[in-house]
Amino acid sequence: MREELLKMLKETENYISGQELCERLSVSRTAVWKAVNSLKEVGYEIEAVTNKGYRLISSPDVLLSDEIKSLLDTEWFGKEIIYMEEVDSTNNEIKRQADKEIVHGMLVISDSQTAGRGRRGRNWNSPPGTGIWMSHLLKPDLEPSKASMITLVAALACAKAIRDNTGLDALIKWPNDIVVNGHKVVGILTELSAEMDYINYVVVGIGINANMTEFPEEIKTTATSLRMECGHAVHRSAIVASYGKYFEHYYNKFISASNLGGLREEYEELLVNKGRAVLILGSGSEEKGIATGINDMGELLVEGEDGQVKNIYAGEVSVRGIYGYV
Ligand code: BTN
Repeated sequence: MREELLKMLKETENYISGQELCERLSVSRTAVWKAVNSLKEVGYEIEAVTNKGYRLISSPDVLLSDEIKSLLDTEWFGKEIIYMEEVDSTNNEIKRQADKEIVHGMLVISDSQTAGRGRRGRNWNSPPGTGIWMSHLLKPDLEPSKASMITLVAALACAKAIRDNTGLDALIKWPNDIVVNGHKVVGILTELSAEMDYINYVVVGIGINANMTEFPEEIKTTATSLRMECGHAVHRSAIVASYGKYFEHYYNKFISASNLGGLREEYEELLVNKGRAVLILGSGSEEKGIATGINDMGELLVEGEDGQVKNIYAGEVSVRGIYGYV
């Protein structure tokens, strides 16, 4: 009911009367008053004026599930949200949830992570109050070999959500980092639970450096935050809601084709590597080339110095610019 109340307050620019809220929520005036007070306690500024009613003045930058739900406009993404103030890793938590029941679209989000995980066994810096540390669960009807493409779907949705909410020129570093002005703002860790020919579930874990103002020494030169780039704090829940909307749209398109053909153009428009020199780092090998785009399977197309185009599969190599991270 708190979530519905919030939605109504957000939809109404002016005052909404206590009477109308009671009728639409089918609760008593006291229940409305209590719910308003509990929202005030977590930081919402709500004005109450006799004979006029209630008016929402401002929302705090919180990731509470009520706040996210009041902004979400999706069919299945985030229909179940678990919010935690602290967790080891949202990817770990959603796997624990999936061991009990696999809920397609479930979202786990935490204000901080004590053991945030990055790709290739690295740590992910996840301090409280500043970032978006979230994981969502999927149960796709897909061959396991195609699951890695989901990570590109997530990257596209994330870049779009950031662009819409901040106006920043967020670009994708293949396959799934998001960069702004050459620095990393988002990392995505997709994990799979599968049999040989059957996917049990996929976890998409996303870390967005939203409102940080500083980074640890080791990542200072490569990382940045949305706040540092746009010069003001961003509303984290709005970005989550916008990501959910985009993700659902692109994911449905991807699943109906079982490939990225329908997303390719939009993905390539935001691909920072496109037309640039890249280094393909394999185990013990290094190759130079020019990235020209992706194919329908999400592989990076790289034209080598001999003019031959190679398809680079995400799992086997890492790609970086000749002169640095991008
Ligand atoms: C990367 O190395 O670029 C991937 C980083 C992924 C970090 C996110 S934060 C939310 C989720 N939980 C984790 O432990 N990792 C992912």
